[in-house]
Amino acid sequence: MTGLIAALDTTDPQQARRWATAVAPSCGMLKLGLEFYLANGAAGVRLIDDRPVFLDLKLHDIPNTVAGGVRAILPLRPAFLTLHAGGGRAMIAAARAAADVAGADRPKLLAVTVLTSLDAEALHETGVAGGTRQQVLRLARLALAAGADGLVCSAHEISTLRDALGPEPLLVVPGIRPAGSAVGDQARTMTPREAASAGADWLVVGRPITAAADPGAAAAAIAAELVG
Ligand code: C5P
Repeated sequence: MTGLIAALDTTDPQQARRWATAVAPSCGMLKLGLEFYLANGAAGVRLIDDRPVFLDLKLHDIPNTVAGGVRAILPLRPAFLTLHAGGGRAMIAAARAAADVAGADRPKLLAVTVLTSLDAEALHETGVAGGTRQQVLRLARLALAAGADGLVCSAHEISTLRDALGPEPLLVVPGIRPAGSAVGDQARTMTPREAASAGADWLVVGRPITAAADPGAAAAAIAAELVG
């Protein structure tokens, strides 16, 4: 079944805690991203003691540095951790080797292929000659072969990735909007039910929950869509 992850995008740890408590009955995981981590560090993550936590830090550096970053994060026991597939095979393999030290409780590594904020022209500007779909598949295969457990992908990439890669890789999907909700800056969205039936393992939902008058009720309504 598809699970729900609430993205707690704030620099305020008290706000994050309130959201975490409100969504606890409906969300199997809480996502803390760059803005929270840069403002509050590891101590801030420890304040969010509802587990499991997805640390969305999108690591991208030389293999030795990324491996050191993964080792530094292991005491926080995140369930998921993101890194950029564009860092290459050796970087991903180094991250996986560092994570493996934690044994069965190790964080699952999720690779980001092409940022969904890049359109075809912006991607071409970075030097990528083929199209977005081709680049997503190339980086997805590379990341999984190097030791990533899954991918962060757009809802519109789910069926392509499932067809090419099979049922095994975890697919974690942001850009989700319940029918009728404001889209904000997400360009190509899907409803929770559509993304779940396309084959997502986890949906990441931020503002439709956190900007709602009642975040707990908003999360519960989305979760109900996933089971109903
Ligand atoms: O508020 P919203 O539902 O748009 O939040 C989506 C979350 O997923 C944010 O934390 C954002 O950083 C993250 N994300 C995304 N698109 C990606 C990868 C991550 O929106 N391609």
